[in-house]
Formats: sequence, structure tokens, C-alpha cells
Amino acid sequence: MDTKAPQVVEKPKPSGRRRWPRILLTVLAVFVTLLGVAIGAVYAVSSKHMTQIWDVKPVAYSVPEGAEVIARGKAVAIFRGCADCHGLDLSGKVFLDEMPVMRLVAANLTQGGLAATYTDEDWARAVRHGIAPSGRPLLFMPSYEWIELSNEDLGALVAYIRSLPAVAQVDHGQSAVGPLGRILYLTGELPLLAAELIDHGLQPARPVPAASAEYGKYLITGCTGCHGEGLSGGKIPGVPPSWPIAPNLTPHASGLASWSEADFINTLRSGKTPGGQELRADFMPWEFISQSSDEDLTALWLYLTSLPPRPAGNR
Ligand code: HEC
Ligand code: HEC
Repeated sequence: MDTKAPQVVEKPKPSGRRRWPRILLTVLAVFVTLLGVAIGAVYAVSSKHMTQIWDVKPVAYSVPEGAEVIARGKAVAIFRGCADCHGLDLSGKVFLDEMPVMRLVAANLTQGGLAATYTDEDWARAVRHGIAPSGRPLLFMPSYEWIELSNEDLGALVAYIRSLPAVAQVDHGQSAVGPLGRILYLTGELPLLAAELIDHGLQPARPVPAASAEYGKYLITGCTGCHGEGLSGGKIPGVPPSWPIAPNLTPHASGLASWSEADFINTLRSGKTPGGQELRADFMPWEFISQSSDEDLTALWLYLTSLPPRPAGNR
């Protein structure tokens, strides 16, 4: 009896069922590796843009003094939306906390924060060009709306900010852009770096404040970020999906065709539309806009009614 005789154990032929998991594992491994490479590439490319240093020389302007100038600066800060993101007292806050898209901390602009060290030129570079004093592009601050801000409005705005009581710096942590935010940025869905969207050679506008469509056109850039370049509304770029769609403000049947000037002004003053809908101040900053002068609101109305009617949702 030869116990050493090789035992012939027949290897079971790999059945389809046994082979599948191995193929699946390989496919999964390849997929995970590719995903890792893709995310790595997304981070590498977006970080390169986010850390690029910009050398921009802002147009000179002056910062006047006086109560009238400060009052005008307050109107500018409200109308241009600084208070929406930086807080009513401009002392900064976390204004968006939506990872994996992004988490954004708007800086403390008062003497307890940036105003302590910011020069006139620093203000112009940040507000008009979307660039920090270090040359870094600012995240998500819509400076493309203010590249043509007039010298008078910028001067008044800076005078107002400098006049504000110093609010001590609170540690809100850092702004950060997550993987989804970076993908949206790279695919052009998220206007993350205003510095890249601005024609830095544009000169400041020279608007004449008046109840005119022309002045309304200058003011309307405070509304286009949400209501769209063509003011026909639609999905607002870069905000969480829970946000409502911005309505159509053009004189189209799906917009304000049936509104009168009084309807428009009452809506912005009271936050209530002629149809009785309460505007949600978290999404539509009517509480700030309501502090505008009658002249400014009339100018907006005249500009909006001068526009071609466009169907809703075409931005
Ligand atoms: C949509 C939101 C938003 C609005 C509106 C906005 N900001 Fe900002 N702002 C930000 C965010 C976010 C940052 C921080 C960006 C960063 O960390 O890169 C910032 C940063 C800044 C900084 C400076 C940064 C630095 O780090 O040196 C200044 C100055 C500033 N804002 C001024 C203003 C002024 C003045 C206005 C009104 C004309 C305004 N902002 C309107 C969101 C906003
Ligand atoms: C931060 C985004 C944002 C900005 C800035 C903004 N809006 Fe709105 N607006 C909205 C949203 C969102 C709604 C819908 C609100 C709701 O359904 O509660 C709205 C609603 C309105 C309505 C009501 C329209 C209707 O048919 O019911 C008017 C009028 C309006 N906005 C005018 C303006 C004007 C004028 C400006 C600029 C001075 C402006 N908005 C700036 C987001 C914005």
C-alpha cells in the first residue's frame, strides 16, 4: 500500500460562480484607483487656481469724510449685499456650511478685523477685483458684480466700514472647498473665483444717481447674481438645492408683466408680493433692499420694465 502515491485530487474547474467575485474585485479595485486618481487631479488643478497669485493695480479713488458720505456708504453696503454675507454689523460669519460643496467664512470687516490693517488699495482690490492683499483670489465673493462700482460708491463704502464700531474677531474656522465644490468649479457650474471671471481692465462706472432706467442698470448688478444676467430667473448657481428658484423679473407673463410700479416698490418694502406671497428673507434679501431710497427702487423698476420680456428660467 503506497501511501505516498500522489493523490489525484481533481481540481474543481473554476465555475462561473467562483470566477465572478474575482473579476468584480478587480473591476472594483480599478474603479477605486481611477476614482482616487480623478479626485487627486480635481484637487491638484483646483488648488493651483485657488493659490494663484494675482498682481492687479486697482484704479485710484478717494475716501471722503462726513455723515452724508457714511450714510451713502451704508446704503451701498446694504444694496451691494455685503451685509447678506458678512452679517448686518459686517463682523463676519459662516454664511454657507454645505460640505462636500463648501464651507465659507466671510471675514470680519470692522476695525476688530480687516479694517484695522486694510489700506484704500486693499479695499479696492478685494471689492472690485476679488483679490486679497496677498494676491490670492477670494472664494465665492461676487466681485464681478462690483468691478464697475463707481469711485464715489467705493469711497463711501470704505468710509462707512471704517466708521463702524470694532467688533472683536470670533474664530469661525477656515473657509474650505470640498470635492463636490471643486468639481462644480472645474465644470464651470460654480463661480468660485471671481478674479478669473473679471475683466480687470474695466474702468469704474460714472453713474448719475436719479430715478432713471440708466441708474437702475447700474444698481441692478445687486440682483443679477440671483435673478440672472438676463433677469429672467432660474436656478441660482452655487447655492444648496434647498434654495427656491429665483423668479423672473422681466416684463413677461411669467414675470412682472402684470405688476405696477407701486406693486414692485411695496413688495420690496414689505416682503409681500401682490399675490400675497411672503418672500423668504433668507433667500431674497428684501429686508436689506427695503432700506433703499424711493429713487433707487424707481430706477430699478424703470430699468426692469425697459428690458425685453423673457420666459422664466433663462437666467
Ligand atoms: C456672496 C457672499 C459675499 C458678499 C455679497 C460679499 N462678500 Fe466679502 N467675502 C465673502 C467670503 C466668502 C469671503 C472670504 C473669502 C475667502 O476666504 O477666500 C469674503 C472676503 C472679503 C474680504 C477679504 C478678505 C481677506 O481675506 O483679505 C473683504 C475685504 C470683503 N469680503 C469685503 C466685502 C465687501 C465690502 C462686500 C460688499 C461690497 C462684500 N465683501 C460682499 C463673501 C461675500
Ligand atoms: C441672494 C439672492 C437674491 C438677490 C441678491 C435678490 N433676489 Fe429677489 N428673489 C430671490 C429669491 C430666491 C426669490 C423668491 C423668494 C421666495 O420665493 O421666497 C426672490 C423674489 C423676488 C421678487 C418677487 C418676485 C415674484 O414674482 O414673486 C422680486 C420683485 C425680487 N426678488 C426683486 C429683487 C431685486 C430688485 C433685487 C436686487 C435689488 C433682488 N431681488 C435681489 C433671490 C434674490
